Parts: sequence; structure tokens; C-alpha cells
Amino acid sequence: MSVAFHELQVSAVIRETTECTSFELRVPAPLEEAFRYRAGQHLTLELPWERFKLTRCYSLSSSPDLGETLKIGVKRVAGGRISNWLNDNLKAGDSIMASVPEGRFVLDPNTRSGAPLFLFAAGSGITPIIALLKSALATTKRAIILLYANQDEGSVIYGPEVRQLAAAHQGRLAVHLHFDSTNGYLEQSDVRKLLHHSDIAEFYICGPEPFMELVEKALEEAGVHEELIYIERFVSPVDPDRARPDGVDEASLESPGRFSLWLDGRSRTVPYVKGKTLLECAQDAGLQPAHSCESGYCGSCMAHVNTGKVYMRTHEALSDRDIARGVALLCQSLPASSEPLELDCDSTSFRAASAVKSSYSKRASRFAALGVFAFMIAGTLILRLVD
Ligand SMILES: Cc1cc2nc3c(=O)[nH]c(=O)nc-3n(C[C@H](O)[C@H](O)[C@H](O)COP(=O)(O)OP(=O)(O)OC[C@H]3O[C@@H](n4cnc5c(N)ncnc54)[C@H](O)[C@@H]3O)c2cc1C
Ligand code: FES
Repeated sequence: MSVAFHELQVSAVIRETTECTSFELRVPAPLEEAFRYRAGQHLTLELPWERFKLTRCYSLSSSPDLGETLKIGVKRVAGGRISNWLNDNLKAGDSIMASVPEGRFVLDPNTRSGAPLFLFAAGSGITPIIALLKSALATTKRAIILLYANQDEGSVIYGPEVRQLAAAHQGRLAVHLHFDSTNGYLEQSDVRKLLHHSDIAEFYICGPEPFMELVEKALEEAGVHEELIYIERFVSPVDPDRARPDGVDEASLESPGRFSLWLDGRSRTVPYVKGKTLLECAQDAGLQPAHSCESGYCGSCMAHVNTGKVYMRTHEALSDRDIARGVALLCQSLPASSEPLELDCDSTSFRAASAVKSSYSKRASRFAALGVFAFMIAGTLILRLVD
């Protein structure tokens, strides 16, 4: 099953910084329903590039809860194909091919307890984060702490909007702008000193890999449980002309005749057909585990390997830490041994909002009283703009 693309028109082009441009997109009336989205989700764009059609994901920085026009923000990547092309060429009135919004970097709808929300963004990582911020402000009463790191003042994307939100929500939203040029590189201690009530809070992280690694480590060292941490990785798929065979002969991989998949709280047995991915086999068996790109870069199909071994064709969406923790992408995985294979799509260890639900709701009720307390604390938060 491949991703379907629809034609959208660019209704406005906004130069955010010298390196980043936002594009507002008009959705034709017949597609409005299909393009409904949740804050934090992304579009996949399909663009012609030389003799190929390349795909790239861009997070929506607009909030569906404020009725804003669909908007993406694209920051140039040095040597990058599509980010530079979009910044240099895409104009108002042009059409662009986009998938319907997808992604699991979203607020958990079951978190209504007033648990604080910590948002960590760096550079273009602000795009899904500002959408989460606006939606959480509009639809919840949660206290929100935003740490937003940039090289310098000139590289802050959506700076005026962030400042306006901070001013409008004093006492509830604390914004910490960090500039490498004046504050030095962000350190784990900068993250740790923001943490209050981190046992009941949720944490969303998006930015360059070293930034995310640093924040994740700081949270881990502060004892934050990984099921409360959500991470969005901005990676490109492997373009057809950049793919390098890894030398693995898939035909020689051993496999069990079936595998078990935990999905929606139930274990299902799925027949394995040699040569197919675990996602394909699950779909053949009538199951619908979450998935989107089917190319290994969006992370929607993450599952935890409880027992057995898998081989992944590609795994752009995963960090080395994810792989070491036993996380795999169903759309890229084939069994790699004849041992019994069990995977868990519901596991909370890879920060998927839908997966967190069941365990989180237990936690939420356990901490209901503390949630009220956290909300009271929220009232005392002071807007702080560090420059
Ligand atoms: C869910 C998701 C959401 C995203 N949201 C956003 C967003 O909101 N805003 C945003 O700006 N970006 C976002 N991204 C990132 C975006 O999809 C692109 O990855 C990014 O724009 C870079 O694409 P590019 O074509 O410009 O660079 P690419 O051509 O993919 O290159 C990226 C870098 O890798 C190098 N490179 C890669 N392969 C090779 C090779 N074989 N040989 C030599 N060099 C190589 C390039 O030189 C360059 O430095 C998101 C990604 C994901 C997965
Ligand atoms: S569906 Fe996107 S990584 Fe598997």
C-alpha cells in the first residue's frame, strides 16, 4: 500500500528567517475532511527531483484547534535537495502534492489531569512544538514550559508568535529562549533546572539529533520515565539514488512460521510469509497497526521486539538508542531467526501517544490529586524570557 498524494495550492509564503520559510496551503473543499489533523502531525510532500519523485515530511505548525490555515515551515539544510528547493522556488499560487496529515507526535487526549507539559524545541523543531503549544493552550488548562534553543536571535523561527503567546498566557506558559551565541551550548543542567513535577508531566522533544540526545539524557537522569517522553526525528527518507545495499541476503534469513503482535491490548498470532515485512503480514491478517510512510522514516510503525530477532531494511526514524532498546519498524522488519518472535505495538517504551493511553490513564487517576496540585503550581509560573 503506498501513500496517496493530493494537490494543494500554496496560498501564502512567509519568510520567517533567512534560512526558513513558511508555506500556507489551501485544501480543496472535497478534501477538507481527509485533511483534518491533530497538532503535531506532519504532511508528506512529493516533489519531482531530476528523474525521481522524492518525498519529505514537514510538520504542521498551524493549530487545528484555532482554525488556522494549514501551514508548514521549511528550514534549509546545507546540501539538502528539497529544503533548499522549496525555500528558493515555491511561490504563492503554485500547487504541491501532499499526503493527508499523519504522525503520532500528538497530545494524548486522555491527559486531562492538568499534568504539566514540557516542550523542548531547537531550530526547525519548533514547527510541531508550536502547534502542540497552541493546541494545549486552547484545549487544556495544563501548565506549559517551553525551552526553545537557537543559534542566535536572528535564527528564531516563529519568534513573534512565541512571544505573543507567552504574553497572552502569563502565569501558565513559561518560555525560555536559549541562544548558543550568548548562553553557550545548551547543557543538561539547563534542562534539569526547569523540571518541576516531572513524575506526572509529559515531555515533547524536537530538534537536531545532539539537542534531542542531550534533553533525553537530562530527563533520564532526572528519573523521568521514558513512556512520558515523545520525540520527533526530522530525517529524510533514503532517496532512490542514495540507497546502498547493506549486503544482507534476505532470502537466507531464517524465520518462524508465525509471529505474535500485541495490538490494542491483545496478542494476535500472524502467519509469516517469507519475503514480506511484518507490517505487510499483519495487514494480510486483517490487522491495522499504525503506519504511514512505509519507507522507514516517519516512525509511525514502531513496535518493541519482546522476543526473537528482526532484520530492518532501513531505520532512519530510529536512533541508536531506540535500536538498543529493542525498538523496530514494522514496515522495514523481517524475522531474522527461527526463534519465536513477539512484538508489542502497545509498548510504552517508544513514546507513541496512542500507545501511552492505557498505562497513562492508570497513572493519571493515581495522580489525580497531584494533578490538581500541579495546576495550582501552574498559576505561579512566571514568564521568563532568557536572552
Ligand atoms: C516527521 C518529520 C517531520 C519533519 N518536519 C520538518 C519541518 O517541520 N521542517 C523542516 O525544515 N524539516 C522537517 N523535517 C525534515 C525534512 O523532511 C527533510 O529531512 C529536510 O528538509 C532535509 O531534506 P533535504 O531534501 O533538504 O535534504 P536531503 O537531500 O535529504 O539531505 C539531508 C542532508 O544529508 C546529506 N546527505 C544525505 N544523503 C546523502 C548522500 N547519500 N550523500 C551525501 N550527502 C547526503 C545532505 O548533504 C544534507 O546535508 C521533518 C522530517 C520528518 C521525518
Ligand atoms: S510506516 Fe513510516 S517508518 Fe514505518
